[in-house]
Amino acid sequence: MGFNRKDLLGIQDLEVGEIEHILEQARILKEINTRAIKKVPTLRGKTVVHLFYEPSTRTRTSFDIAAKRLSADTYSIAASTSSIVKGETLLDTLKNLEAMHPDIFVVRHSASGAPHMLARRTDASIVNAGDGMHEHPSQALLDMLTILEHKGRLDGLNVLIVGDITHSRVARSNIWGLQKMGSKVTVCGPTTLVPPDIEAMGAKVCYRLEECIPDADVIIVLRLQKERQQQMLLPSLREYSTCYCINRDRLKKAARDVLIMHPGPMNRGVEISSEVADGPYSVILDQVSNGVAVRMAVLYLLAQR
Ligand code: NCD
Repeated sequence: MGFNRKDLLGIQDLEVGEIEHILEQARILKEINTRAIKKVPTLRGKTVVHLFYEPSTRTRTSFDIAAKRLSADTYSIAASTSSIVKGETLLDTLKNLEAMHPDIFVVRHSASGAPHMLARRTDASIVNAGDGMHEHPSQALLDMLTILEHKGRLDGLNVLIVGDITHSRVARSNIWGLQKMGSKVTVCGPTTLVPPDIEAMGAKVCYRLEECIPDADVIIVLRLQKERQQQMLLPSLREYSTCYCINRDRLKKAARDVLIMHPGPMNRGVEISSEVADGPYSVILDQVSNGVAVRMAVLYLLAQR
């Protein structure tokens, strides 16, 4: 099965064969990133516009690098330096940029569903680079590629996602994606940061880290999304880290080949200790490298239609 869609909006509606196809393409394209001359002409003449209404380091840079390595022309619109600050609506911005005939928009927005709304209003491809608390499909794809590379499979693995599940689009995309690929997903966090509907998505819930760490093949640590918390959901950061920080002590109970992952940006000392983030189980920088490969695959496949 290939990937013949106009847009990549989420993982929830993807078929297993489509996920496999994107990951396979990413594996093939990844090699380009290690060449002395890291550029191929595949997307020459294509135009990619990055439309980011929220901060981003890794996602925006890696989409940009991915597009450039495939020879596409890229333009970046950041909310703070565009007409968005003059009150232009998201749709007007899209329509104006569309009049310049780009092929792909890569969109990050704080409103869940914003890229979906845009996708219905343009013939250009839309890639969701994170919409509110909803989905972050390219992150889940790069996470799956990283796990596959280290474990050789996704099927039958126990993946533990720890932290602020409620506000995490990374958690949602990974829960959908990993389960489609045959992994079992458990989420762990304080009751105020684990949404009640998460079991309906198929994930197991656990509130005590000590109970779920020993079974985990992979631990995905999440950042506390303070910018999305309307009210104080934790007594204090210190209390959070006392109960949920992934540190060396807690990993004594983990499998000897456990993988530690984090989508970044990390709050060192809050959800993850430095010795774990920089330690032997960590594949956090592999995730970043795979981010470029996965985004090359996504842009390449969308540009083929
Ligand atoms: C994540 C995001 O923006 O959703 N970061 C990322 O894209 N690598 C996670 C986060 O912000 O905590």
